[in-house]
Amino acid sequence: MADLRLEHLSKRIGGHSVTHDVSLSVPDGAFCVFVGPSGCGKSTLLRLIAGLEEASAGRILVGGRDVTQVPAWDRDLAMVFQSYALYPHMTVRDNIAFALRSARRPEPEVAAKVAEAARILQLDSLLDRKPAQLSGGQRQRVAIGRAIVKQPKLFLFDEPLSNLDAELRVHMRLELARLHRQLGTTIVYVTHDQVEAMTLATQIVVLRDGRVEQVGSPLQLYDAPDNLFVAGFIGSPKMNLLAATRQGDRLVLPGCGGQSVPLPPLAALPAEGVPLHLGLRPQAISATGAQSLDLVIEVVEHLGSETLVHARAPGSAELVTALVTGGRTLSPGQPFTAGFGTAALYLFDPTGQRLR
Ligand SMILES: Nc1ncnc2c1ncn2[C@@H]1O[C@H](COP(=O)(O)OP(=O)(O)O)[C@@H](O)[C@H]1O
Ligand SMILES: [Mg+2]
Repeated sequence: MADLRLEHLSKRIGGHSVTHDVSLSVPDGAFCVFVGPSGCGKSTLLRLIAGLEEASAGRILVGGRDVTQVPAWDRDLAMVFQSYALYPHMTVRDNIAFALRSARRPEPEVAAKVAEAARILQLDSLLDRKPAQLSGGQRQRVAIGRAIVKQPKLFLFDEPLSNLDAELRVHMRLELARLHRQLGTTIVYVTHDQVEAMTLATQIVVLRDGRVEQVGSPLQLYDAPDNLFVAGFIGSPKMNLLAATRQGDRLVLPGCGGQSVPLPPLAALPAEGVPLHLGLRPQAISATGAQSLDLVIEVVEHLGSETLVHARAPGSAELVTALVTGGRTLSPGQPFTAGFGTAALYLFDPTGQRLR
C-alpha cells in the first residue's frame, strides 16, 4: 500500500509534448481514475508511472520513494492492460503463478497465493482451463489475478473493460469496486468513459492534451466544474452549453431566439457583450421552474421512467436537452417549457474558465 505523487512530470515524444507538467497527489488507498478523450495522454501518463516510458522531466514518488529512475520491474507495481496479454499455452493457474515462479518463490507460497487470488476473483473452478476456453470477462479476471499475486504497492489499469460487451462491463465494474474495497490497495485506472470514472473513482483526474484540467471527487467535478471542458465531459447526458451575452442583469441567448434569463450570482460581472457560455444540466430542467425557456420539441427518447427531450426555440440554432421524469405523453412538434432555477446555471468566460 502506498500513495503516489507526480511532480511536474513531462514527456516529450518527437518534439511534441504528450504529458505537460503534471503534478498530482493520489492518497494511499485511493481509486484514482484518469479520464479524458482518446489521445489526451492517459496511457502515456500511466506508462510513465509504470516505468514503461522514461520521463522527460519531473519526478514520480511511490510511497515516498523516488522511482523516476527505477526500472519497471523494481517499482513494486502491477499493470493490467486492455488486451489481457495472457499466455495462451498455459492454464489459468500457470498464468496467475507466472510472475511468482519467475521470481523463484517457493512452490507452497505460489500455490497459496494462486488459491487466494482465485478465491477473490471466483476463478476456482477455472484454474485448469486455457485462456481460449474462457469468456472475455473470465480472461480479464485472470489478468487481474496475475496482478494480485504480486501484492503490489499500486495497481495500474489501462482501459481494462473496453473489450467487454456493455452488460459485462457493468458487471466487471462492480467486481472492480468490490476488489478495491477488499484489497484496499491504491489503484490508478485509465478510461475514456466518464460513466466508468464516475462510478469507480474516489478521485478523478480529467486530462486534455496532456494537461490536468481538474482533480476532484466525482460529485465535486459534477457539481463544480472549473471550466467548460470538464463541464461538458463529466455528466450524462452532456451539460447544455449555450451561447450567451450579458445585458444588464440578464443573459441573452442568441441561439435560443434571443430569450433571456437572469444572471446567476457572481463575484464579478463579465463585461457586456462579451461572448459567454451558459451551462445547464439536462437533469436540472423540468416542466416547472422559476425561470424558463420556450422551446419546441424536436426529438423525444422514451427511456421508461424518464424521457430525454431535445428541443429548440423556433428557427434557432441551439438544441437544448432535458431529462425529465415521466414525460410519456411528450412528442415532437409540441411546445416545451424548459423550467429551471437560477442556481442551476453555470457561466464560462470566452476562454472557458468558470465565472463564479
Ligand atoms: N511512441 C509514440 N510516438 C509518437 N506519438 C505518441 C507515442 N505514444 C503516444 N503518442 C501520442 O501521444 C498522445 C497521447 O497518446 P496516449 O497516451 O496513448 O493517449 P490516450 O491513452 O489518452 O488515448 C497521442 O497524440 C499519441 O498519438
Ligand atoms: Mg490509451
